Amino acid sequence: MKPVKKLNDLVAKKIAAGEVIDRPYSVVRELLDNSIDAGSSDISIYVENGGVTNIRVVDNGSGMSREDLSLCYLPHATSKIETEDDLLSLKSLGFRGEALSSISTCTKLSIVSKKQGEEAYKLIVHGGEFLSLNEFRGSVGSIINASDLFYSIPARRKFLKKASAETTLCKNTFLEKAIPFPNINFKFYKDDKLELFLPKSTLKERVINSFKNKFNSSLLEEVSCEGEGFKIQAVLGRPELHRKDRKYMHVYTNKRRITEFAFIQALQYGYNEVLPGGNYPIAFIFIDVDPSLIDFNIHPAKKEAKFNNLQTIHHRLVELVKSFLSQYHYNMLTSHKSSAPIVKELIDSKRDYNYTKNIPVKNDVVYKEKFDSFLENPPTFKSHQELRDEVTNNNNSRSYKYLGQIMDVFLLVERDNTLYVIDQHATHERILYNKLTSQKVNSQDLLLPIEFEVTNEDINLIEKNLDTYLELGIKVAKLDDDTYKITALPSFCKLLDSEIIDFIKSKKGAKADIQRDLYDTLACRSAIKEGDPIDPVAARELIDAAFQLDQARCPHGRPIWFELTKKELYELVGRI
Ligand SMILES: Nc1ncnc2c1ncn2[C@@H]1O[C@H](COP(=O)(O)OP(=O)(O)OP(=O)(O)O)[C@@H](O)[C@H]1O
Ligand SMILES: [Mg+2]
Repeated sequence: MKPVKKLNDLVAKKIAAGEVIDRPYSVVRELLDNSIDAGSSDISIYVENGGVTNIRVVDNGSGMSREDLSLCYLPHATSKIETEDDLLSLKSLGFRGEALSSISTCTKLSIVSKKQGEEAYKLIVHGGEFLSLNEFRGSVGSIINASDLFYSIPARRKFLKKASAETTLCKNTFLEKAIPFPNINFKFYKDDKLELFLPKSTLKERVINSFKNKFNSSLLEEVSCEGEGFKIQAVLGRPELHRKDRKYMHVYTNKRRITEFAFIQALQYGYNEVLPGGNYPIAFIFIDVDPSLIDFNIHPAKKEAKFNNLQTIHHRLVELVKSFLSQYHYNMLTSHKSSAPIVKELIDSKRDYNYTKNIPVKNDVVYKEKFDSFLENPPTFKSHQELRDEVTNNNNSRSYKYLGQIMDVFLLVERDNTLYVIDQHATHERILYNKLTSQKVNSQDLLLPIEFEVTNEDINLIEKNLDTYLELGIKVAKLDDDTYKITALPSFCKLLDSEIIDFIKSKKGAKADIQRDLYDTLACRSAIKEGDPIDPVAARELIDAAFQLDQARCPHGRPIWFELTKKELYELVGRI
């Protein structure tokens, strides 16, 4: 072995820089942190050629003096802490005094900055070497340019992905920075084109604006709670909103996104009663912890943290999610009366069943709000004509007596001395399913293709199924390394963008299986649901079609009705 020697400063700096900056998105992360810490209310970022050619951040924050500029790129130069104790009351995102030093080592860095009431100055440092610091023009705030990433460490360049993939990573980092700061305007430019503008808004709106068209944002709610030394704000999806992956489960602590599995697990515990296994919620959690109870100084990119009160926060988080979900346990239109009087009411009344006459009474604020909005916008139930079109059967000489709907899901029918209890959802689902499988697929080009990000695993699956999707009327094409797009869908497809993306990413198996699953999902989504009121005319149309079915089972194999003969009823009450 050779004798031990101290590394020269530049080599040591390059090694240290590699820990903080490993690809363009690390530069994005650090520059945005600095602009946020500088108290900016407006931040724009420009990413050129995946961030390799240039990353520019423009902010209107406090700016730097000449003196600040002369020091800011040196290792361990920071204005955010002075002593170790300051870490216990840390409010800023940065504190190590390493970021600009690392960026200046592996890029060509220039900073134009101006403090209120002072001149503007421009600093230039290339590959860690100071080149100049001169008076310049500029307004209050800073413009930081980091160009030619890794020009001074060519070995690192080899590990960079294609520009499009690096841009996606930069954009994701941008979102992670912007989401917890809804009081700041953020803009993201890709190759000088404005890609995303996030105006100042509420937290929930910030989440919604950040992921436009990715999921149904009307199903998100904001909730919060507090505990000793911490506060939790959460933007949570209702149970209907779920995915096959954890992509939209974000945990932020003191405004940094962290990878703390305990909190992801807490979310899953909270949701596990309403989400079937393998399904994950959409949930954004923002935990603010007293800085003295948390240590971020354990990961160079601050992606991990040590908590003093992890258990307590975990517990509160599970409670918060459960209490949020508890309001969805009841059915909006479900009366809490026993079913018997309702059946009687329906049977002996000559009037048509009118749902507004069965207004449930419950002294629950959330319930009341929901009910008020229900009265203002009554749910659209299938109209006579709509169902008539769907069931293709309109027999006017009926050989049965329709008695009404009970328990918000069953249609009661008397025919040939037999009582039929028909499941409205399952029946409609079967009818729609039969219709889908019997018609020719008519594929329709989309005006706006649906773009979505993919992992290597997704790519393998999608490529394997491309031909199958084409036959089913779904055109999927590769956009770049980690993005695909859907350019056409079957004309009858009423799924949300996020649902069709989920479907494409999760379906395995032969063509027949994929087709069955697709039609199953479509039929299930479009069918009348439990809790949907149904007018008697539409109900009779549905019953007509049900009695014409070859198979009285839903596409999942469950029976769609249940029957009791007069003889069985007599036996049940001991008449015979
Ligand atoms: N956009 C900016 N506006 C105003 N001051 C800035 C800006 N960017 C950097 N600075 C100043 O430069 C200093 C050094 O920045 P740098 O990012 O290297 O370290 P830090 O933010 O203090 O800590 P960390 O390494 O954890 O990010 C900061 O402490 C801050 O005073
Ligand atoms: Mg910093």
